[in-house]
Amino acid sequence: MKVAIGSDHGGFEYKSKIIDYLKSKNIDVEDLGTYTKDSCDYPEIAHKVASKVVDKSVDKGILICGTGIGMSIAANKVKGIRAALCSDTYSAHASREHNDANILCLGERVIGECLALDIVNVWINAEFQGGRHQRRVDMIE
Ligand code: RB5
Repeated sequence: MKVAIGSDHGGFEYKSKIIDYLKSKNIDVEDLGTYTKDSCDYPEIAHKVASKVVDKSVDKGILICGTGIGMSIAANKVKGIRAALCSDTYSAHASREHNDANILCLGERVIGECLALDIVNVWINAEFQGGRHQRRVDMIE
């Protein structure tokens, strides 16, 4: 599995923690920035990660900002993206199983680091269940 990851300055610390975590699970990670703590604009990073997911050069994407809200709004503007902002593990696995979410969004200023890593673990490992859920995803598209 290959995952593209990005954050703005508000999600910068969690981005590096999540990269380390994914690498420890032998998951290939592409870091699309930001690369410093300097203030930057989250829509640019969201678009970079979303584009990689849509063109299928990666399997999934992860975006982190202060709240996760800006990243999720921006990513969901890209056709084919189903970005899920999750602050709990139930929503994380349900977003994969029911919604076939292809980008996970997290808020570094909202949830603790251990919960963020738990959410990443659950989300990466959950599978889309198809069936009636496929019909609904098709309706979105
Ligand atoms: C940056 O201050 C902050 O607005 C951003 O990280 C994010 O929370 C936006 O939704």
